[in-house]
Amino acid sequence: MVAGLIAAAGRGERLGGARPKALVGLAGKPLVGRAAAAIAPACDLLVVAVPADADPAPFREALAECGVVARVCAGGAARSLSVKAALREAEGADRIVVHDAARPFATPALVQACLDALAEADAAIAAVPLTDTVKESRDGRFVDRTLDRSRLWAVQTPQAFRRSALERALARPDRELAAATDEASLVERDGGRVRLVASTPRNLKITVPADLELAEALLACRTR
Ligand code: CTP
Ligand code: MG
Repeated sequence: MVAGLIAAAGRGERLGGARPKALVGLAGKPLVGRAAAAIAPACDLLVVAVPADADPAPFREALAECGVVARVCAGGAARSLSVKAALREAEGADRIVVHDAARPFATPALVQACLDALAEADAAIAAVPLTDTVKESRDGRFVDRTLDRSRLWAVQTPQAFRRSALERALARPDRELAAATDEASLVERDGGRVRLVASTPRNLKITVPADLELAEALLACRTR
């Protein structure tokens, strides 16, 4: 059985605006509904983690608006704590798909490719080879070194996990979970095998207002 967990409990501070980011509309449909609808075909059960201090009603409405049936739970103070809270609601599932509410363009095929790759790994994560050259700077003013781009991947969600690997990863103290930017990095630290699954830059994450503009433009192109 496959459970999909949607991390939707962030505030969206970099996007700005009065509403939680997950409720922001993209071509008239809320981000959380789009993200959940994208992973729903591959999942037997969906759990959406929403901000603990927010009224869950608008989140339920946003999911219903996109035809998604999901459980809603209170998220945590950091992303991995939200994923941990959602996992508690997903009893019975042996494979787990973690996805950001902020990624409305994932496809069911990408989710399925991640799930299929679990046959040879503890986790399988959507990723794209980096196209920008990446430099490291300790002081933010001068460059210390240039990284070898040919080995670098930009990681996205969906990320699929064997339940046992995700549970072990999330069993850490909260302060360690709060420092993680994705759950796969925790599986790596446990010595787990993490498989890269080739994705596309079209699976973009809405972080700053320019991303929303880009997303609107992408959708406008598709419907033309
Ligand atoms: N997220 C979450 N719980 C948190 C923090 C983040 O479920 N405590 C989710 C967000 O809702 C988002 C995903 O993790 O779907 C990726 O996080 P990010 O893009 O950083 O979103 P926000 O944390 O909402 O944005 P910001 O960092 O700008 O406040
Ligand atoms: Mg954040």
